[in-house]
Amino acid sequence: MTRGMTVDQVANAIQAIQDGKCVGMPTETVYGLAAPINNEDLVKKIFYIKGRPSFDPLIVHVSDCQMAEELTSDWNRVCQILADAFWPGPLTLVIKKNESVSDIITSGLDTVGVRMPRHPLALELIRRLKVPVAAPSANKFGRTSPTSAQHVREEFSESDVFVIEGGASDIGIESTILKVETSKSGATLSLLRPGMILPSAIDAALTRQGISFRWERNQSSQIQSAGQLKHHYMPKVPLLLLKQETLAEAIGLFRQKLSELPSEVEGVKIKKPSSFNKARELILSEDAAIAARELYGKMRDVDAGDADFIFFRVQTIHQTEVWKPIMDRLNRASLWRSSAIFNISG
Ligand code: TXA
Ligand code: MG
Repeated sequence: MTRGMTVDQVANAIQAIQDGKCVGMPTETVYGLAAPINNEDLVKKIFYIKGRPSFDPLIVHVSDCQMAEELTSDWNRVCQILADAFWPGPLTLVIKKNESVSDIITSGLDTVGVRMPRHPLALELIRRLKVPVAAPSANKFGRTSPTSAQHVREEFSESDVFVIEGGASDIGIESTILKVETSKSGATLSLLRPGMILPSAIDAALTRQGISFRWERNQSSQIQSAGQLKHHYMPKVPLLLLKQETLAEAIGLFRQKLSELPSEVEGVKIKKPSSFNKARELILSEDAAIAARELYGKMRDVDAGDADFIFFRVQTIHQTEVWKPIMDRLNRASLWRSSAIFNISG
């Protein structure tokens, strides 16, 4: 941290980009693995070093609304209202793109995900580059997102990534992703990934401005966002979600199902426990905002220990709206929940 105060980290990051490195960029949600959108080699390098499939598009980060407008062909009143209400902050808008955004970034989709992050160093980096930056979360594909500079350093080599030290991420889980489509009859919204900007807050912001809109349930057949993959955010040690059952019952049930587990799901290797002696409980604050901030760090901590598996007890408070984004991450991160192996139950 002291380093950050004495050295101009943003200038060093820009130099590193010129030297062909990606940037570990602090944001208020999680750290991103960033490259300017006009640097095709570096954008390709993001996919390569992350091990990310080319069908999974990147979010483009801007430092003001004009930059966002310049990326899209349909920046309308709904987008402006949402940007005014929630930017800079953890909301990504998926909007029709224009030709300034390459197919590599959007994986060939005709839309682009755009957001203005709230972290001052991220904003400063984008402002000084004068170009938006594409950035996925700075973790290997399918794994737990990084919420500190140290997490990023552990995952990537110094020769590939220059990491800006920006402290612990304030929100702790990835942004809400909202697809916005408009027609004469009004706006249609789809929640592609839940996050700490809740649907009720989006509802309120639009209603306040007299916008007519409707929510669309995702067509689940087509994956529009990797956050929709069943297995994502996985710790290396298996995570079990317990509902009513006791730990002993859960272990018994999980054991029975063990042989049915595939060795890999959606490109992510599954580690099956060979014994069940060492259990570690993942304990989160009852306050959802604190729980979100703690989630990935705690998952990494228990993951780094010698546990055979990790478990989390699902309780009644976890059913409220504010817990939805956290439970979404826990469900996807888990190998087993509620008496069924996740992969098999869907
Ligand atoms: O909070 C965040 O959003 C963080 C920080 C770094 O900004 N970024 C992040 O990026 O979580 P990533 O790549 O790990 O997750 C972004 C998700 C991906 O699942 C991707 O499929 C989806 O956004 N996405 C990006 N562009 C999209 C588009 N045009 N349509 C649908 N989904 C899109
Ligand atoms: Mg990610």
